[in-house]
Amino acid sequence: GTNPMWGGRFAAGPAAIMERINASIGFDRKLWAQDIAGSRAHVAMLAAQGIVPAEDAAAITGGLDQIEQEIAEGRFEFKTSLEDIHFNVESRLTEIIGPAAGRLHTARSRNDQVATDFRLWVRDAFDRLDQGMQALQAALIGQAEAHADTILPGFTHLQVAQPIVFGHHLLAYVEMLGRDRSRVADARARANECPLGAAALAGTPYPIDRHMTAAALGFDRPTANSLDSVSDRDFALDYLATAGICAMHLSRLAEEIVFWSTPQFRFIRLSDGFSTGSSIMPQKRNPDAAELVRGKTGRVFGGLAALLTVMKGLPLTYQKDMQEDKEPVFDADDTLMLCLAALTGMVESWTVNPQAMRRATEAGFPTATDLADWLVRTLGVPFREAHHITGHLVKLAEDKGCGLSDLKLAEMQAVHAGITDAVYAVLTAEASVASRKSFGGTAPDRVREAVRTAKERFL
Ligand code: ARG
Repeated sequence: GTNPMWGGRFAAGPAAIMERINASIGFDRKLWAQDIAGSRAHVAMLAAQGIVPAEDAAAITGGLDQIEQEIAEGRFEFKTSLEDIHFNVESRLTEIIGPAAGRLHTARSRNDQVATDFRLWVRDAFDRLDQGMQALQAALIGQAEAHADTILPGFTHLQVAQPIVFGHHLLAYVEMLGRDRSRVADARARANECPLGAAALAGTPYPIDRHMTAAALGFDRPTANSLDSVSDRDFALDYLATAGICAMHLSRLAEEIVFWSTPQFRFIRLSDGFSTGSSIMPQKRNPDAAELVRGKTGRVFGGLAALLTVMKGLPLTYQKDMQEDKEPVFDADDTLMLCLAALTGMVESWTVNPQAMRRATEAGFPTATDLADWLVRTLGVPFREAHHITGHLVKLAEDKGCGLSDLKLAEMQAVHAGITDAVYAVLTAEASVASRKSFGGTAPDRVREAVRTAKERFL
């Protein structure tokens, strides 16, 4: 038979393959709660405006309540022949309450309906995301507090650079997540306008109250332009861009976890709960979860590229291409929430190895900059020259196979006569980190202070 929702001008139903390419119910069933909430708000407004009789509105609301229960309890039969979530719900409503169900779609189109449903869904996704990010921040801040004095080498080019403390390193990710959360807040605020009432594209002749539906659904206001309301998906792109940047941050942390936990580094040991073994090599403790956080990043980036590509050539207003907006967002939500939870679990349960970090700080001359700075401060040597002198001393230590502080005073004086005993005080990693007291620096006291303010700002 012809489609009951639009088959009036058709003599035959769709080809099987048409039904398959057209149907979105396989994924947009995720919007069921939002679809019902949107319909409730819409019918309440229609009744308040005298557009549908109060009894019909009450019957519709009752029917929607029943459908909500059926879906929540897994008793609802989703039908591909009914294409999408909107038709599935409306069709079931007709079964339950009869012809009065037909009044629900007054002054509405699936175009403003789906835009509303999806905005509501994305709004919840933003809230979930914010919570997941905050939980990871809490785990990182907890570890930062415990490791404000734990020294390790900081790297540039993955070459030993200067000593830092582990807490400082972890707080760097707390800042990234803080900006990720502010992107979420910005994007959520932009998304929080209600398209309902734009109808198909041009608005509607019925005396609807768009402010009423917007308020009932927790939106800040109705969208201002009916064409824009049904054609744009930038709220979904905002979600994917925000998610993508966060996924990138998580991937960097995951990468560090991977190499920190190698037997060569041993900076951390992942808990048994977050390690996997090898089927052949009995000694292995593999960081699969961290690798997967790194690997899954591609899906999120891919989702952003996919939806940008879907949208870029579309003329106003609604085009069916836009039905492709949902799966990338659903997948990004699943993926990112999982990655955040996995990283939170890894960070909360890892064992930090301060001895291994301290030992690693002995190699690679991480206090060479401190030595050069000492020459500048104490002897008044211009920095360029101090850099040069220190380079000579590093070469000397390297040739001897020792650290800078193992050089004898006489050996140092052979390179620069002015050097005194006092220099040894700046060659330890402890002195180095303690000296970096500039705002935002790695000095342990600064890090303790940063932990306190991070708790206030983020938790
Ligand atoms: N399933 C559709 C989507 O997700 C709903 C909107 C359909 N509108 C239409 N005019 N065919 O985009």
